[in-house]
Amino acid sequence: MALVEVDVFLIAGAAAAAVALFALYQRLRSKPKDLLRLPYLKFEDGNDSRERYVTDTPALLQIGYDRYLKHGQAFAMLNYVDENHPQVVLPIKYLKEVRNAPESKLSFPYYSEQIFSLRDTGGIFHTHEATQMIRVDLNRHLNALTPRMHDEANAALEKVLPSNNDWAPVSPYAFFSYAISRVTALALAGPELAHNDEWIGLTAKITVDIMTAAQGVRAKWRPYTRWAARWFFEPVKVVLASKRRAAELLKPVLEKRKAALREGTAGREKGSTPNFNDGVQWLLETYEAKNRKLTPEDLAHHELFAAIGAITSSVATTVGVLFDLLDHPEYLGEILQEVEEVRKEAPALPRQALNKLWKLDSFLKESQRLHSVGQVRLNRAAVVPFTFKDGLHLPAGTQISFLLQVPGLDPDLFPDPQQFKPWRFLRKREQGDADKNHFASVSDDNIFFGNGAHSCPGRFFVTDEIKLILVHLLTKYEFKYANDGEKRPADIIHDNASYPNIMTQVLYRKK
Ligand code: HEM
Ligand SMILES: *[C@@H]1O[C@H](CO)[C@@H](O)[C@H](O)[C@H]1NC(C)=O
Ligand SMILES: *[C@@H]1O[C@H](CO)[C@@H](O)[C@H](O)[C@H]1NC(C)=O
Repeated sequence: MALVEVDVFLIAGAAAAAVALFALYQRLRSKPKDLLRLPYLKFEDGNDSRERYVTDTPALLQIGYDRYLKHGQAFAMLNYVDENHPQVVLPIKYLKEVRNAPESKLSFPYYSEQIFSLRDTGGIFHTHEATQMIRVDLNRHLNALTPRMHDEANAALEKVLPSNNDWAPVSPYAFFSYAISRVTALALAGPELAHNDEWIGLTAKITVDIMTAAQGVRAKWRPYTRWAARWFFEPVKVVLASKRRAAELLKPVLEKRKAALREGTAGREKGSTPNFNDGVQWLLETYEAKNRKLTPEDLAHHELFAAIGAITSSVATTVGVLFDLLDHPEYLGEILQEVEEVRKEAPALPRQALNKLWKLDSFLKESQRLHSVGQVRLNRAAVVPFTFKDGLHLPAGTQISFLLQVPGLDPDLFPDPQQFKPWRFLRKREQGDADKNHFASVSDDNIFFGNGAHSCPGRFFVTDEIKLILVHLLTKYEFKYANDGEKRPADIIHDNASYPNIMTQVLYRKK
């Protein structure tokens, strides 16, 4: 009996001491905690599992839009990359502040680092040099480049879509991927690598490789072991091998360009088109002007970062456009007629002529409105705690985004939102400002290519590229679905990524 009492006393005493210690510990730890004070949205029907987010995130974003964003209110939801930091989705009224916030506070590179788990996957960090090369040099040389892009696109398509007498099956994803990677390589890496199939394959694949490595590391490796993945985890080794190989492939090109610069044969005579007019040359000249040494490894980093931006989303966009053309063949005639009219004046389709293809442009934009590549835009991560003017507070590490796809289907913004109206944006251009509402434009109500300082620097290039490719395809080939009555397949959804079904094959025939 006594023994039991003693035991109880001891246990009670130990428990009391433990509680006191724990309270003290809590008090010491709980320095004013930085909290996110926002409604937290989750699936409310009893299944809020992570798998649910993989396939159903768009449905949740729709609820968040109707319940919060439309009323000017931000909301929070699961961030599957880092469950301790809920992500925040913002209504458009915060666009200006996000756009104007310095990178030291709301950062696009920091966001990329988080979602691609770049520190653990050997992935490709954002590079200022590559971005500037595209923003400044590529855009400056676009007029001179488009005729060469035109020839490259035609040659690439003729290679992957050889002449045939009868309908033959083909994967739109495969031929767009090839053509776009080649035209991109011509502009960003130069003719040598545009005609190197290993380079084309490597750059076409790199984004998917990095995504696979990031998702695999997060799924299979505990956070404190991830640093070792580079030696033992195959998907990470694939990314690292691609980086090394890219440097090897670039090395002879870089040496040739350096030699040409030394010997003064880079073709810089006044008024003439330079012999070399591509990303490798522009990067090299920028480095030389600043007395910096460009190594093959640094060049590979810039080139791969540029390829990540340039290829995957452009391919997904064109695949979707082809499906929409197949679903709405009644508009093809008008598009081709416009092409013929423009070609009558300018057979080679220089940039000024491409800019006159308003119908094609409007069709591209409508295709994206209904089936956007990606659900979100202007993704940033808070480097430090950040407070908006109205008091909305983000703890450091919080990811923010604006919705793209959901507002595109809002009947208050787009009448008959579910209807494919190919000339929707053409009408807007005719009735309003002709410089707004085209495929490449960015504005406060149009964030397909982002907004502000980080808005996509490749958007003019990609608009020209897509038009050149489509003009060739639509004038030289016919396409149809493999089965009668077939329609555009459902888009593929993975978290907030969305893109057209890349497995679908169609039939083609040379005209
Ligand atoms: C249809 C195809 C494309 C889409 C939908 C797209 C979209 C975007 C978006 C939304 C951003 C981020 C903007 C932001 O967060 O504010 C971006 C950035 C970027 N894009 Fe594109 N892009 C496309 C094609 C291209 C092409 C062809 C290139 C290269 C020639 C390119 C290079 C880049 C680069 C380098 C950045 C980073 C810009 C920076 O950090 O300042 N993109 N793009
Ligand atoms: C929850 O939803 C996901 C995705 O739809 C599904 O794979 C999973 O089996 C569901 N879990 C339960 C417990 O219903
Ligand atoms: C989008 O997906 C990334 C992971 O790929 C995630 O980190 C981010 O928080 C997501 N954003 C939204 C708005 O779903």
